[in-house]
Amino acid sequence: MLAIIGGSGLTQLSTLEISRREVVRTPYGEPSGALTFGVLNGAPVVFLARHGYGHTIPPHQVNYCANLWALKQAKVSAIVSVASVGGIRADFAPGTLVVPDQIIDYTWGRKSTYFEDADKPVHHIDFTEPYDAKLRQRVLAAAAAAGEHVFDGGVYAATQGPRLETAAEINRLERDGADLVGMTGMPEAALARELDLPYAALNVVANYAAGRSASEHGIQFDSIELVLQEAMIRVRRVLEHVSKA
Ligand code: HPA
Repeated sequence: MLAIIGGSGLTQLSTLEISRREVVRTPYGEPSGALTFGVLNGAPVVFLARHGYGHTIPPHQVNYCANLWALKQAKVSAIVSVASVGGIRADFAPGTLVVPDQIIDYTWGRKSTYFEDADKPVHHIDFTEPYDAKLRQRVLAAAAAAGEHVFDGGVYAATQGPRLETAAEINRLERDGADLVGMTGMPEAALARELDLPYAALNVVANYAAGRSASEHGIQFDSIELVLQEAMIRVRRVLEHVSKA
């Protein structure tokens, strides 16, 4: 069964035929919301809204440990994470879909491992390739089947938020090699790896990153909403093909 974690702009999957909702408790506390089980395009899927169903949990307060643990408990076989991002690379304009292939983590103070309890031996996961190669290909193939253009590859910078970045910070991220910037990609990806859950991301560029827009008015929040509304229609089409694959 495929799991989909929905971010900003995707708090529900309208095309999901819902069969049940399940409130799950974990040793790490409560997930962002109930797990929503259903059928998407003929295939079983479980959906979780990362920021809660009313979009009330900011990125640094998401209980990533509980979310991933709950999905593991639900016996999902893979996780596709949908998350909106700012575009740093010039061709990542608002509305662009990207399946990133690398991560740089700038977050801090988040509980980012399951391997720190006194009774557990130290464990280092291999994170050379942070996303699951096969699942990435599955998402890319689904996009092709859906006729939606998706960029293959990009370096995702995970920032702490909830504020957006300064223009100088974006310049630094670009010098570091980042193409996209978001606030929720970590520790989510690493926790999935710790639980041996194949994980890939489908990023939606909501805005040009700070200082990168042609507009002199900074980041326009009303236009972000419109961009996400339109882009999520395409994201849903891609997801329908992923679930079927
Ligand atoms: N920066 C960080 N996270 C984001 C952005 C951004 O510009 N847009 C959407 N999520």
